[in-house]
Amino acid sequence: GKPLVVAIDGPSGSGKSSVSRETARRLHAAYLDTGAMYRAVTWYCLKTGVAMQEAAEVEKASREVDLQISTHPDHEQVTVSGTDVTQAIREPEISSAVSAVATTLGARAELIRRQQQIIADSGRRIVAEGRDITTVVAPDAEVRILLTASEEARLRRRGLQLGGTQSQQDLHNQVIGRDAKDSTVVSFHEAADGVFTIDSSDLDFEETIEAVLAVVRRAA
Ligand code: C5P
Repeated sequence: GKPLVVAIDGPSGSGKSSVSRETARRLHAAYLDTGAMYRAVTWYCLKTGVAMQEAAEVEKASREVDLQISTHPDHEQVTVSGTDVTQAIREPEISSAVSAVATTLGARAELIRRQQQIIADSGRRIVAEGRDITTVVAPDAEVRILLTASEEARLRRRGLQLGGTQSQQDLHNQVIGRDAKDSTVVSFHEAADGVFTIDSSDLDFEETIEAVLAVVRRAA
């Protein structure tokens, strides 16, 4: 089909990644998880001993990292210099450190540039998700959606995702704390002009997919 960009933003625990991946499958589209790119840069920084509070070092790392990300929705793979980091970037130590990369503006600029390149190169339908896709990475996307959910729903989902082993305090720090840090540089709690909001608090997975596909159908 003809190129179509579906941009989806939302806070952590909104179900954004699983919803975006499944939406891409249904649309026979490519899928870009931009959060995985921030995580991969974070992995590289920790691995190479970059001081996370040194903006110039973090920016330099973001420029030099050899980062590859699969855009096939059924093939989740991220590599750094050929090392498969797909699982490693989901570890709690990465989740706790990732906001340091995300709030380094020079590193953001570099990742935004790479994301725009991936979207342009895909040359076909692509679902891209993150925190600033509807506003910064792809503000001209045909479809722009903010996927939200109540704090309660987000905590519950992330808790289930992590196997229910986390204390409420840890969960709160991970979900709400990380969003608070990220919010200092990107705004994803309110929809920008022309961005369609879907509140998934009271929707199950399939209902959320249907809501997203309905917005796509109206736009395409
Ligand atoms: O989506 P995920 O939770 O994997 O994203 C990890 C982190 O990457 C976020 O907490 C945020 O710091 C950063 N991020 C971002 N902009 C994006 C996507 C992710 O700043 N577009």
